[in-house]
Amino acid sequence: MKAIHRLALAVSLALPLSALAGEVEVLHWWTSGGEKRAADTLQRLVEEKGHTWKDFAVAGGGGEAAMTVLKTRAVSGNPPSAAQIKGPDIQEWGELGLLANLDNVAEQGKWDELLPKQVAKVMQYDDSYVAVPVNVHRVNWLWINPEVFEKAGAKPPKTLDEFWAAADKLKAAGFVPVAHGGQPWQDGTVFEDFVLSILGPEDYHKAFVELDEEVLTSDKMVQAFAALKKLREYIDPDAAGRDWNRATGMVIDGKAGMQIMGDWAKSEWTAANKVAGKDYLCVPFPGTQGSFAYNIDSLAMFKLNDEENRKAQEDLARTVLEPEFQQVFNQNKGSIPVRLDQDMSEFDSCAQKSMADFKEAAQGEGLQPSLAHGMAASSYVQGAVFDVVTNFFNDPNADPKQAAKQLAAAIQAVQ
Ligand code: BGC
Repeated sequence: MKAIHRLALAVSLALPLSALAGEVEVLHWWTSGGEKRAADTLQRLVEEKGHTWKDFAVAGGGGEAAMTVLKTRAVSGNPPSAAQIKGPDIQEWGELGLLANLDNVAEQGKWDELLPKQVAKVMQYDDSYVAVPVNVHRVNWLWINPEVFEKAGAKPPKTLDEFWAAADKLKAAGFVPVAHGGQPWQDGTVFEDFVLSILGPEDYHKAFVELDEEVLTSDKMVQAFAALKKLREYIDPDAAGRDWNRATGMVIDGKAGMQIMGDWAKSEWTAANKVAGKDYLCVPFPGTQGSFAYNIDSLAMFKLNDEENRKAQEDLARTVLEPEFQQVFNQNKGSIPVRLDQDMSEFDSCAQKSMADFKEAAQGEGLQPSLAHGMAASSYVQGAVFDVVTNFFNDPNADPKQAAKQLAAAIQAVQ
C-alpha cells in the first residue's frame, strides 16, 4: 500500500472517534464519597469513548435540590444532555416534549431483551425509550455494625419487636441505637419501611401507588406512624439536618448500632474498605423479608441540536447498559445491576442477597416501588407525604391517628 493510502486509512480509522467526539453534561446528585466513586466510573468510560464529560453534580440526598436546579435550566431552554430523572417523573418530562428518542440505541443494544419488562416501560414515553436505567437499589434495608451489637448483647432483628429489643440493648449500652439524618426524604424513607413492614406489600401498594384513602387512614397506617414516633427515642439529639452519609459514618465508626437506609449506604462502607457480612451486616428491614422496595436510578436524555453532542449522548446511553459499567458502577454504588443476566460472582454478599430477593419478590406481590425515592407516585404526592411525615416526626406531641388523616388529605389535595 502506498504511503499516502496508508495515511488516508489511518486518518479514516481515527476519524470516527475525533470527528464525533462531543460533550455530555450529566446532572446527578451522587456526591458522597462512595457515590462519587461510582459516578467516576461512568465519567471514565465516556471519556474512553473520546467524549468530554461535564459534571453537573447538585449535592443533596434524595435529589430534591437537583430537581429544582434541573427545572430552572430546562425552563431557560438549556437543559443538560442527561439528568438523573426517575420513575413516573420521566413521563412528566416526556409530556413536555423535551426528551430525546433513544430507540436506535435501544434496538442495537437489545434493551427489550435485557431489561425486566416493568423497568423498560418506565424508561419509555409514548412507547419510545427516553431514558436508560442504571441500577436497582433496594430501600428496605437495615445496616448493622456487628461489633457494636456484640458489645451491647443485641441480636440482628428479623421482626419489629426484635428491632425495638435490639434498640433497647444498644441504648442501655450507651450507643446511639439508630443513626438518622433528620431531612424530609430520610424521614420519608424510614416511614416507608415501617409501612411496608406493618401493612405488608399489598396494602403498601394500595396506599402509595393506588393512593387508596381507606388504607391511608387504616389502623395499620396509624401503627406505622406510632412506630415512627417510637423511633424518636432511639436517635441522637443531633440528627436534625444530618446528611445520610454522615449517619452511615456513625455506624461505621461504631458510635451507632444501625441505620435504616437504602443500599446506597453500602457505597460508604465500600469506600471505607469494609467487608459485607464481616465488618457490617445488611438485613432486610425487620418484617419485610420477601418484599423489595425498589428504587431504580435512570438517566433521561434531553433533545440536543448539536450532532456531536447527540452522538456523545447516545454513547453514554449505550455505556450504561454494558456489563463493564454495570459491574464496576454497582459494586461502588451499593445497588445491583439492572441487567438480570449479569454475572454476580464478583459482587459482595449483600448484593447477591439483593439480587436473589429481587428475583423472588418479582414472582409475587413483594416487588414494590419506593415512594420516598420517586418510584411509586408523582413528585407532588411524594412531597405531600414528606411534609406530613416530617412535621409528625418533629413534633413530640403529634398524634398518629391525626397524622394518618392528614396523610390522606394531603395526598388528595395534590391529585
Ligand atoms: C438515589 C440514589 C442516591 C440516594 C442518596 C436516591 O434517591 O436514587 O442514587 O444514592 O438518593 O442521595
